[in-house]
Amino acid sequence: MKILVTGGAGFIGSHTCVELLEGGYEISVLDNLSNSSEKSLERIKEITGKDFKFYKADLLDYDAVDKVFSSEKFDSVIHFAGLKAVGESVEKPLTYYHNNITGTLNLLSIMRKHGVYNIVFSSSATVYGSPKSLPIKEDFPLSTTNPYGSTKLMIEGILQDLYTADNNFSITILRYFNPIGAHKSGKIGEDPKGIPNNLMPYIQQVAIGKLPQLSVFGDKYPTKDGTGVRDYIHVVDLSLAHVKAVEKKSGHPGVYIYNVGTGNGYSVLEMVKAFEKASGREVKYKICPNRPGDIAACYADASKAEKELGWTAKLDLEDMCRDGWNWQVNNPNGYAD
Ligand code: NAD
Ligand code: UFG
Repeated sequence: MKILVTGGAGFIGSHTCVELLEGGYEISVLDNLSNSSEKSLERIKEITGKDFKFYKADLLDYDAVDKVFSSEKFDSVIHFAGLKAVGESVEKPLTYYHNNITGTLNLLSIMRKHGVYNIVFSSSATVYGSPKSLPIKEDFPLSTTNPYGSTKLMIEGILQDLYTADNNFSITILRYFNPIGAHKSGKIGEDPKGIPNNLMPYIQQVAIGKLPQLSVFGDKYPTKDGTGVRDYIHVVDLSLAHVKAVEKKSGHPGVYIYNVGTGNGYSVLEMVKAFEKASGREVKYKICPNRPGDIAACYADASKAEKELGWTAKLDLEDMCRDGWNWQVNNPNGYAD
């Protein structure tokens, strides 16, 4: 089976490429490298000992993407490509809507033109807005608080409408919780540009001495210790959910939606402690005001993915922190090293 991975040079895409290649799938990667480095693709080849084609192309360039589909016949597409920074999406909404929505519309119409009907799409727990209760199930009400989240929710709607119009499609929507960690080889990992927005890359850079201290955004939430609670999932577990989705759902028309999380919620302070233990380094922090738009707590009920895809997260918090630290130590400046 041959799979086109859009956004395959990025954080989650690169890890998924490794798991696909190790699972015996043939892949090609399409990425415009707007938020990634071609070095990640070399590293995927080092880890797996396998080769694959890379198309440096932008999903906004219809003709370039059409050419890719004319040059190879794909059985399935895993669609990671998109912009993902929540804060930036508030400042540049048109850029986010254009890139994420127009890019996806181009991809879908080209897939249809070439008779490629299987797709796995990267959605996010952000589509649940502020959940009324926990754990979160797939049928909870959906809402968003920022343009990035709105692009995810709109694309989910576009995919549903596409299936209604064309019952050939098999569409799997994976709603990720908080992916962290890295491949155990330490060769691929998350490489944020500039100062990280997300908790774990920030903690990692404090631990290695690149940043002086972590700002903990709020300690008065109604949670176990007052700090925000999230469902952190090892990026390799998350990648394996994509492999399962391709395996179980390709050729089975329908729209399938799954939460991809562990079901465990950890607070910011628990994450700091776990990371200190894994790295043997101190992570200095100070308590700061809440970050606007943040919710108190968020964790998944992932039982639907277990029941229907046969997938569960296997790696624990210790694994996530150890592997994240290993990547950071081996690549203190990410792929720029
Ligand atoms: P990433 O930025 O590392 O990877 C995205 C990749 O897409 C990058 O390599 C980028 O260069 C590429 N890309 C962006 N726009 C493109 C375009 N127009 N044409 C071609 N390539 C393009 O991000 P990631 O963390 O690996 O996330 C992958 C997907 O998962 C994204 O859609 C993201 O929104 C979603 N997601 C991520 C998280 C998270 O916390 N990391 C959580 C939920 C959902
Ligand atoms: N946090 C801090 N300090 C920081 C960064 C984060 O205290 O410097 C806290 C946040 O307040 C939150 C927790 O750490 O309580 C996690 O924050 P992240 O920014 O790592 O993750 P979010 O849950 O806010 O958002 C992430 C992605 C979104 C995605 C969402 C759900 O950034 O794109 O997970 O998948 F939508």
